[in-house]
Amino acid sequence: MILILDFGSQYTQLIARRVRELHVYCELHPFNLDPAKIRAMKPSGIILSGGPASLYEENAPDIDDTVLNMGCPVLGICYGLYVIAQHAGAKSVGSRAREYGAATLIVDRDDKLFAGLGGREHRVWMSHGDRVEAIPDTLSPIAHTANSPFAAFRSNDGRLRGIQFHPEVVHTPCGTLLLRNFVLGICGERGDWTMANFIDTKVAEIQKQVGPKDRVIMGLSGGVDSSVAAALIHRAIGDRLECVFVDTGLLRAGERERMENVFARQLGIALRVVDSSELFISRLKGLLDPEQKRRIIGHTFIEVFEKEAHALEGARFLGQGTLYPDVIESVSFKGPSAVIKSHHNVGGLPETMKLEVVEPLRELFKDEAREVGRELGLAAEIVDREPFPGPGLAVRIVGEVTRERLELLRRADAIVMEETAAAGVVKRVWQAFAVLLPLKTVGVMGDGRSYESVIAIRAVESQDGMTADWARLDPGFLAQLSSRITNETKGVNRVVYDITSKPPATIEWE
Ligand code: XMP
Repeated sequence: MILILDFGSQYTQLIARRVRELHVYCELHPFNLDPAKIRAMKPSGIILSGGPASLYEENAPDIDDTVLNMGCPVLGICYGLYVIAQHAGAKSVGSRAREYGAATLIVDRDDKLFAGLGGREHRVWMSHGDRVEAIPDTLSPIAHTANSPFAAFRSNDGRLRGIQFHPEVVHTPCGTLLLRNFVLGICGERGDWTMANFIDTKVAEIQKQVGPKDRVIMGLSGGVDSSVAAALIHRAIGDRLECVFVDTGLLRAGERERMENVFARQLGIALRVVDSSELFISRLKGLLDPEQKRRIIGHTFIEVFEKEAHALEGARFLGQGTLYPDVIESVSFKGPSAVIKSHHNVGGLPETMKLEVVEPLRELFKDEAREVGRELGLAAEIVDREPFPGPGLAVRIVGEVTRERLELLRRADAIVMEETAAAGVVKRVWQAFAVLLPLKTVGVMGDGRSYESVIAIRAVESQDGMTADWARLDPGFLAQLSSRITNETKGVNRVVYDITSKPPATIEWE
């Protein structure tokens, strides 16, 4: 495996992605990970990430000398380059040497890191405030830019290398080859980490963790992560996995049937469906504040799930679909940015349950989890589905949630699902759904005046949900949606299209 030590760069996760794309397993840890732990991991190579700090700051993050002397190759990127330089006794200068954006790298001597790149000049992406001004005899320069005399260097024994630029970003076109040279060429990784052998390894691990008799209980949300995790755990321990699906009454049309169909019928995984819609809807009565709705739903979910767990004799383990980005967010040098997530994840169950967690996907990125799902035979309707908020339709009904308003939204939303699927729009957008507004407007139907509800359609394009842009859907397609919704949804006489990006708006309306 390749170990990435994080000094807090905004690009650190990208380094991990790039290494994974080479089919090499890697882990990302904070820069101050205990050297004894590092030794135990037996990495075949270590990458020191960039970071926002300057070496001249007080308490600038640093590593123990032993980390550079484990015997494996080390690559320092940007701030990581200074760390190596400084440990070798180099002279660096501070912020006068700022360099941001594209630069031309001139390679002055052959090195394995630049093998096969062709030519001496390469476009690279710089983002740094310090620069190395002079290096000791133990290091040899490899490349420079107009602004950085030592934009790449290596130690004379060929084990340590530093590069000033960021190979992990797309603005460094040769970056992928360069990382490949490091990981495969210099560290000797084979690049044979595939999802199929990931599954084999995980199955063995789960069997070892859970043992031959114990049971795992798991809450399914209908989302990709928990579904894939469940399928994987099931592969390992079969019917000793107990899946619980809570019908909150706040689901999209057909969701419960879809889950029953995929799990019980296609995968043969028993699914205990708990219908708690009465409870959820009664607790939401009269509530208008979005955060309050979210809180009540979160608490109620946990309450229902805990009751189920207690009813299940002998469950010592709790299965969860935690993914790597969630793990990184909570352990990384940048500190936890978990606050946004906590209310986002109704699946995150309380520690008070005293169950040991089984999280087989915690090393994977979302697209890798999808690949595992496909390998395990999960239907595309689950693996490729769009995100859905834990609090469900409750946060797509602006204002009070009642059974009637849920029915109305569900009907309109089902039309959006049907039409976007038929037109192939689902493949292009991140999400497309209907929102029920808390107002009525005047319309005319037949010869009479109507005074009815407004449905908003939200369709956005996004890479990760953090930012988004409204989808430029075809006007003819929007017309079709509008006409079907007003014709087929009693109680709706107007449809509007949301043309706001995120920021300033969020994707969900509440
Ligand atoms: P916002 O509305 O914050 O949403 O722009 C960003 C993405 O997160 C989804 N979302 C949630 N997902 N539990 C979830 O698992 C939640 O409570 C939740 N709220 C929002 C949203 O659908 C979008 O994809």
